[in-house]
Amino acid sequence: MDSTALKETVLEKDSRILPEIMDRVVQYALDYLRKIDDFPVGRNAPVIPHDSLSDDSMGLKQAFGRFIDQYEQLMVASSGPRYFGFVTGGVTPAALMGDWLTSVFDQNPQGFQDHGDISANIERNTITLLLELLRLPESFTGGFVTGATMANFSSLAVARQWVGEQMGKDIAREGMDQKLHILSATPHSSSVKSLAMLGIGSNNLIKIKVLENREAMDINDLEQRLTALKGQPAIVISSAGTVNTVDFDDMQAISTLREKYNFWWHIDAAFGGFVACSSNFSHLLKGWEHADSITVDCHKWLNTPYDGAVFLVKKDHATLQVQTFQNSNAPYLGDPLAKCSYLNFLPENSRRLRALPAWFTLMAYGREGYREIVDNNIKHAQEFARLIRQSSRFRLLADVRVNVVAFTLNEQQVEAEKVNNILKKLNERGKVFITPTIMNGNAGFRAAFVNWRTKMADVELLMNELDVVS
Ligand SMILES: Cc1ncc(COP(=O)(O)O)c(C=O)c1O
Repeated sequence: MDSTALKETVLEKDSRILPEIMDRVVQYALDYLRKIDDFPVGRNAPVIPHDSLSDDSMGLKQAFGRFIDQYEQLMVASSGPRYFGFVTGGVTPAALMGDWLTSVFDQNPQGFQDHGDISANIERNTITLLLELLRLPESFTGGFVTGATMANFSSLAVARQWVGEQMGKDIAREGMDQKLHILSATPHSSSVKSLAMLGIGSNNLIKIKVLENREAMDINDLEQRLTALKGQPAIVISSAGTVNTVDFDDMQAISTLREKYNFWWHIDAAFGGFVACSSNFSHLLKGWEHADSITVDCHKWLNTPYDGAVFLVKKDHATLQVQTFQNSNAPYLGDPLAKCSYLNFLPENSRRLRALPAWFTLMAYGREGYREIVDNNIKHAQEFARLIRQSSRFRLLADVRVNVVAFTLNEQQVEAEKVNNILKKLNERGKVFITPTIMNGNAGFRAAFVNWRTKMADVELLMNELDVVS
């Protein structure tokens, strides 16, 4: 008899004891979530020695123990209520559920008909829910990518193909031999990075003037630039929510220009798109439904975990989209133009079902739930701005338009080093987390309110902490 047949492998053992381990992990996770309000939200993390790979298998139980020993004390509650960095939201209970099940089912949403699973249909269904939440028409189609950077990249890749078509060129096949005209006022750095990645060249971005004391486009300047192009195709990248002041370009005015001039219109609405949920702020998006492509980031105001964002492209551009992302040199994947599968509609071939956390949270909380999250966070920002105005130590760097507060020390010229020292002290205390910024040459701080868990008491704590360290 073969003795190895009797010996249980480490993987088999792990599979056998999985119920016990899963119970422990669930209790561990729930314990963390119960403590999340008090868990440090920032740390000055030490450099840790790297692990070495052992020849034999330690198994799951020991690996879990090692994780707790090595990393638990270094984790930060970045999905907690007092993390005000960047514009990343928390994780709703339903989104968490969806994320866990994503790994349990481990599907690859590639195709609609012949791929043997329905995950692509779940993704398409989720996009429809998202369009409803954002009050966008079904003339958009979309796909999930890792974040807003990739959503901007993917949208601009289709835009590049459109410019090529206007010039009688198939850029996806032939490459580029001409400069493209890219116009934007205050693009997010990830759009500029996308221009670099797409071979368009970040230096080829033409900066449109902004309105006085604003980050929004001066529409007259945009029109003059478009007129000067004399019908040559261009790409206009507009902002629905800039990172420092959450300013919005005038969507209605751009959609009017689109009727007169020849350009692809992309909107980066990574987090600003969610003001569609708020009756007091949705007017900022009026006209955005006329765009050719839109970026919306779920791990921002939808409060799904990293990593999940959506890029939306008008269905009229499906052929350009397939030309951009087709697997034309892989015969085993079939005829790309005949197959309307995600395989030929976005950059990755294989992906996790990152739509599932979004599906869960949209189903669980619906329009009302998101109206509440967005409106509450906007109130938090307004209250924090009020506290800053009252403070003798700090001053606002700009008017607070929506959910981000940019501020600095109440001094004539603030050194970046002074800002960094304050941030270091804040991190050491670990009660709140904010990030640095620079506005009009002034070093300062920014606090973004995007998390469903945040309450007014957290806003007050932020102000107290700033008073302690400044
Ligand atoms: C307006 C905007 N666009 C794009 C991004 C990039 O998002 P991500 O880091 O998810 O790629 C951000 C991130 O803050 C953003 O605020």
